[in-house]
Amino acid sequence: MIGIADQGSYPLPMIPAPRKGRGQALDAGAPVQDIEDFKNTMTAYPKTAALMARGAEFLGSRYAILCGAMSWVSERNLVSAISNAGGFGVIACGAMSPELLDAEIAATRALTDRPFGVNLITMHPQLFDLIEVTKRHRVSHVVLAGGIPPKGSVEAIKEFGAKVLVFAPTIALAKKLFRSGADALVIEGSEAGGHIGPVSTGVLAQEFLPELAEDHIVFVAGGIGRGEAMASYLEMGAAGVQLGTRFAAAAESIAHPAFKKAFFRANARDAIASVQVDPRLPVIPVRALKNKGTEEFTAKQIEVAHALDAGTLDMAAAQLEIEHFWAGALRRAVIDGDVERGSVMAGQSVGLVTEELPVATIISNLMGECETALAGRGRIG
Ligand SMILES: Cc1cc2nc3c(=O)[nH]c(=O)nc-3n(C[C@H](O)[C@H](O)[C@H](O)COP(=O)(O)O)c2cc1C
Repeated sequence: MIGIADQGSYPLPMIPAPRKGRGQALDAGAPVQDIEDFKNTMTAYPKTAALMARGAEFLGSRYAILCGAMSWVSERNLVSAISNAGGFGVIACGAMSPELLDAEIAATRALTDRPFGVNLITMHPQLFDLIEVTKRHRVSHVVLAGGIPPKGSVEAIKEFGAKVLVFAPTIALAKKLFRSGADALVIEGSEAGGHIGPVSTGVLAQEFLPELAEDHIVFVAGGIGRGEAMASYLEMGAAGVQLGTRFAAAAESIAHPAFKKAFFRANARDAIASVQVDPRLPVIPVRALKNKGTEEFTAKQIEVAHALDAGTLDMAAAQLEIEHFWAGALRRAVIDGDVERGSVMAGQSVGLVTEELPVATIISNLMGECETALAGRGRIG
C-alpha cells in the first residue's frame, strides 16, 4: 500500500516554553490562553470568538484556526507565521528523523513565543523516539495522524503534560480514543488535500458533531476556504477548524513559486483523488492537482496489473512498484517546483486560492467572513 511517507513524508508541531507575562503554566506543558488576546478577539469578532472560545482555550491561541500539518510545507516559517498571526501552526514531522525534528522544533521556537503543535505519523518507525523529542521541547500539543495511535503512544505524550489530538474515521473509534486519553478530535472530509478518507466533511460533521461536540473538543477539516463555512461548522458545535490548502500558498510558505502558481491557476475540479485501478494493488487515496504524474500513475497501475495477469511479476514485486511510484513526489513538487511529475497535494478549496497573501491577511479574512455570516443569521427578508 502507498504509505504516507511515500508521497513525501507528511511533516511535525509542540509545549511552548513559559511565555513571560502571559500566564504560561510553568510545569504543565499546556499553554494558557492570553487574556488580552481573548478580549481583543471578543471586541473585533464577538460572535465568532464566543463560538471559538473552547477551541481557542484548548489550543492556547487567539483563534481556533489550525493550519493542518503539511509535509515539506509546514516547517518553521509557516508554522511560526500562523501562530504569530493568532492561529495554531503545526509542524509536519512526516518522515523526519528525531534529530531533524529536534532542530525544526528549536528553530520554530526561535521564531514564535506562541503555542504550536507537532504532527507525528503513527506508522513512523521511530514514533516513540519522536515523542521523546517533543517531550524534551515541552511541546504543548501533539497530533497523531495517519492511522490508529499504537499502544502506549497517547499515554507517553500525556505523561509529560501535552495534549493529544487524533483523527478518527468512525464515531466508535473516536469514542474509544477519547476513552483512552485523547484530548481532541479532528474530523477530516474527503475534500481535503493530501491523504483522504471516503466521506465528505459535510456528512462527517453531521454524524460526529451532534454526538460528540458537547462533551469533547472537535475540530473540522477539509474543504474550508472561507469564513462562512467556518461559521456553519462552529454553529454545529465544532470547537474550531483546520485548514491546509488555504495556507499552503501563503506568502510565508516556503513552497516553490511554481507550486504556488499551480494553486492560483487550479479550480476545485482539478484537485482529484488518486484512483485505484485494480483491487489487488491497493492505493490509499491522495487528493492532489491532476498532472502528468497522476496520469502516469493510472497507466502504471494498468501496466503492473497486466504484468500480474501475465505472470511476469509476482504480487509482492507488483505492489512494490505501485508503492514506489510516488516516492519523494511531494518533496519534488513543494521544494523543487516540479508540478508536472511531483505530487501537488491540494484540497478542493484550491479554487478559492487565487493570490499569494500573508497568513495574517488570510486569517483576518476568514474571521471577518465568519463574523459577517454569523451577524447576518436570523435576518430573513
Ligand atoms: C500539501 C499538503 C500536505 C499535507 N500533509 C499532511 C501531513 O503531512 N500530515 C497530515 O496529517 N495531514 C497533511 N495534510 C492535510 C492537512 O493537514 C489538512 O488537514 C488538510 O489540508 C485540510 O483540508 P484542506 O486542504 O481542504 O484545507 C496535507 C495537506 C496538503 C494540502
